[in-house]
Amino acid sequence: MSINRLNRNAKISGVAGWLPDYVLTNEELSRMVETSDDWITTRTGIKERRILKDPSKATSDMGANALNKLLNKCNVGADEIDLIICATVTPDMLFPSTACLIADKVGAKNAFGFDLSAACSAFIFALDCASKYISSGQYNKVVVIGADKMSSIVDYNDRQTCVIFGDGAAAVLLEPDDECATGVIDSILKIDGAGGDYLKMIAGGSLNPASLDSVKMGHHFIYQDGKTVFKFAVTKMADVAEQIMKKNNLSGEDVDWLVPHQANLRIIDATANRMNIDSEKVMVNIHKYGNTTAATIPLCLADWEDKLNKGDNLILAAFGGGFTWGAVYLKWSY
Ligand code: UT7
Repeated sequence: MSINRLNRNAKISGVAGWLPDYVLTNEELSRMVETSDDWITTRTGIKERRILKDPSKATSDMGANALNKLLNKCNVGADEIDLIICATVTPDMLFPSTACLIADKVGAKNAFGFDLSAACSAFIFALDCASKYISSGQYNKVVVIGADKMSSIVDYNDRQTCVIFGDGAAAVLLEPDDECATGVIDSILKIDGAGGDYLKMIAGGSLNPASLDSVKMGHHFIYQDGKTVFKFAVTKMADVAEQIMKKNNLSGEDVDWLVPHQANLRIIDATANRMNIDSEKVMVNIHKYGNTTAATIPLCLADWEDKLNKGDNLILAAFGGGFTWGAVYLKWSY
């Protein structure tokens, strides 16, 4: 195989999602913390989220389930995969990487792989990265998995965060499109570490290793300054979506689908407004799954797969902890 053949796109040739069975409703949460279905619905758009209850299962199990489903669907053997990129903020453990664990679980004996950490933007960062490996000519079958067991880092006494997050996973298969007719066309990706203090997990890393104190102080849970994160998310996600449209001469009418990260329905609506696109063209499943972090965008693709047509213009947009944010322009391939 030749390396550095720069004349091919990376197209998505399949997508599959996997969600745990347990449904945590707003009503059940209202019995756990001081909140209400009305507050959660009006402030976030969320009605229910899925939770992985089995304590022996983790992010890699959800990712492996999504990947097995994808491989069956696409009639591709696990040993044919060249590369697995797992986008996650809830790896099973600090190492080995979740990609290694998934490769082992599905039997991807010939794959290279790694995890990509960019919180809620991780899937689009990973998709862009995967597309570069394909367009360089280095690999032909690349899998990008967005998977997060958010329930493992959520404090169910903190009503600011526990109402938002859920668990889930989804995987896409990328292959070359030698005609460059479809696939990943463009991306604008950003980070700003000055935002780090507003959304983080304080302990468990090399700065604050796990200790009795860190556990006592709840530093292994998500800390979020929701108001500040909201303020940045609502402008940055819309900015970047608008920029990628302008860069590619796309009007609101040219865009067939907005595939937004599902953090808050108000952020999604603001982005769609700035892009000047109708609400029927916006993928929204936040009411069913909440914020599954790296899994939101591929879960949308899985839910909408039957409605998509070859050549459809999709704008994927996300914002997350870091801060990280970005947009990808993708032409649907099948
Ligand atoms: O995906 C990664 C990036 N994350 C995001 O994009 C999340 C961005 N942030 C948000 O989505 C929103 O800020 C939240 C959903 C987290 C919070 O919504 P908000 O409209 O910003 O509420 P707030 O934090 O301004 O709080 C308003 C009030 C407060 O009460 P007071 O001070 O007005 O009396 C809160 O204590 O709502 C209270 N509150 C709640 N009440 C009932 C906060 N959480 C809850 C709750 N139930 N779950």
